[in-house]
Amino acid sequence: MGNFDTIFDLEEAAKFVGLDLEDFQNRVSNLKVPGWKTGEFKQSILLKYFESSNMEGFDSSVIAVSNQKGGEGKTTISLYLAEALSENHKVLLIDWDPQANATHLFLRDEIPSIMDYLGYRGKKSKNIEPIIRNISNNFDLLPSNLELANLTTPYERDDFELLKEAILPLRSRYEYIIIDCPPSLGLILENALICADYILVPIQTRAFSLQGIKDLYETIQKIQRKANQRLRLLGAVLNQYEGQKALAGLAEGVKKYFPVFETVIQRRESIPQAQAKMSLLSKIDLTTMKNFRELATEVKGKIYVEKN
Ligand SMILES: Nc1ncnc2c1ncn2[C@@H]1O[C@H](COP(=O)(O)OP(=O)(O)OP(=O)(O)O)[C@@H](O)[C@H]1O
Ligand SMILES: [Mg+2]
Repeated sequence: MGNFDTIFDLEEAAKFVGLDLEDFQNRVSNLKVPGWKTGEFKQSILLKYFESSNMEGFDSSVIAVSNQKGGEGKTTISLYLAEALSENHKVLLIDWDPQANATHLFLRDEIPSIMDYLGYRGKKSKNIEPIIRNISNNFDLLPSNLELANLTTPYERDDFELLKEAILPLRSRYEYIIIDCPPSLGLILENALICADYILVPIQTRAFSLQGIKDLYETIQKIQRKANQRLRLLGAVLNQYEGQKALAGLAEGVKKYFPVFETVIQRRESIPQAQAKMSLLSKIDLTTMKNFRELATEVKGKIYVEKN
């Protein structure tokens, strides 16, 4: 942990220690807190100079959006759940899939490889903040690229906790961290589920497989038992729902394994359209955005219940 340190600007630092901007400025210049001239404050320094009881830094709720089956709506739900949450909260979306679909929906330029930062196979771990990109107000993205596919074999025990370690310095900065998981089992997914506090499972209602859901349930149980007892299952979100189906029967099947969200994500053409245009959903279709706002509200409610 010693090699990670978050840098705050003046406003963020004031918020972190729980003072208003003016009080904070007075305090840091009186105390000559390192950073008072440059306006950049290291978290470790703030912790030394300020009472920790003042701290109002967030401890993020980390949500893995996961289903080992392909095309269930993991990226879509990660993206627009993050967008909806960012209307009221600071959100980081982690693209944790070597396909980098979420990344390519926003960024066209060359992306530095997250693999150079994680400390895998003899590399030194580095602070990942420089590769985080801002997408819109309150909405940041940790991009991915194909090199993440090299995260295959655990050589040391720590290799299961690379993502968990990497985001530790960010947990005071974001209220919600959403992880878009890959459609596969293995070390990449294990890193996500070990890092996460909660898991949300998108299930496509069009090509529905109860066997797939049972397999997924078993994977989650195994991770909970062996690696991450903190991991809580928020539930399954039915996606691409088209109304004509017997939803009750479908939900009953899923409910044998998972709690099912009341919010159902409708199948809407504007979703692939927004993705093709590299646009936020709120700029394309407010009705569909409303659907994701409902999901965000339900997610927040469930997390509140878990925490209290
Ligand atoms: N509710 C929806 N309405 C219409 N199209 C949707 C909806 N949800 C997802 N899609 C489309 O279905 C396709 C697969 O969705 P998505 O990429 O989100 O799945 P995924 O689980 O992330 O896939 P992968 O396993 O490959 O990562 C995409 O083309 C997406 O635009
Ligand atoms: Mg995806």
